[in-house]
Amino acid sequence: VGRFRLRVNGGVRSVEVPGDTPLLWVLREQLGVLGPKYGCGVGACGACTSLVDGQAVRPCVVPVAQVEDKRITTVEGLSEDGDHPVQLAWVHLDVAQCGYCQPGQIMAAVALLSRNPDPDDAEIDEALRDNVCRCGTYSRIRAAVRRAAR
Ligand code: FES
Repeated sequence: VGRFRLRVNGGVRSVEVPGDTPLLWVLREQLGVLGPKYGCGVGACGACTSLVDGQAVRPCVVPVAQVEDKRITTVEGLSEDGDHPVQLAWVHLDVAQCGYCQPGQIMAAVALLSRNPDPDDAEIDEALRDNVCRCGTYSRIRAAVRRAAR
């Protein structure tokens, strides 16, 4: 067990856990940050997608020891009032159906737009390909990413 200092959504939190504990568990169980969802637990579905130093990662497969002092951003940290351009586009186009995968979809979209501010459909599909949506909201996700890019 070690003590780790985590910079989550603009605050600094300290946790005592084994260093190989997945970040997703720490976020959800220790810190009560519930935006990142548990889907597969093996890095395959994207429901937990969050940002570490601005890059999209899957916290279910990131050991907490690897992210000490890095900047961790979950969907909760995008904005104070849900008014990040990607969140607004999601609401405007009513993207979510059951909603479970959507925090991960949104974070993957934010990461995409930060490295490519004007992606075409193929680039959107490529970037979000491994974020699975069982409701099949993909066409609305694509439209929302394009809207947020405007
Ligand atoms: Fe992390 Fe599926 S729960 S990728």
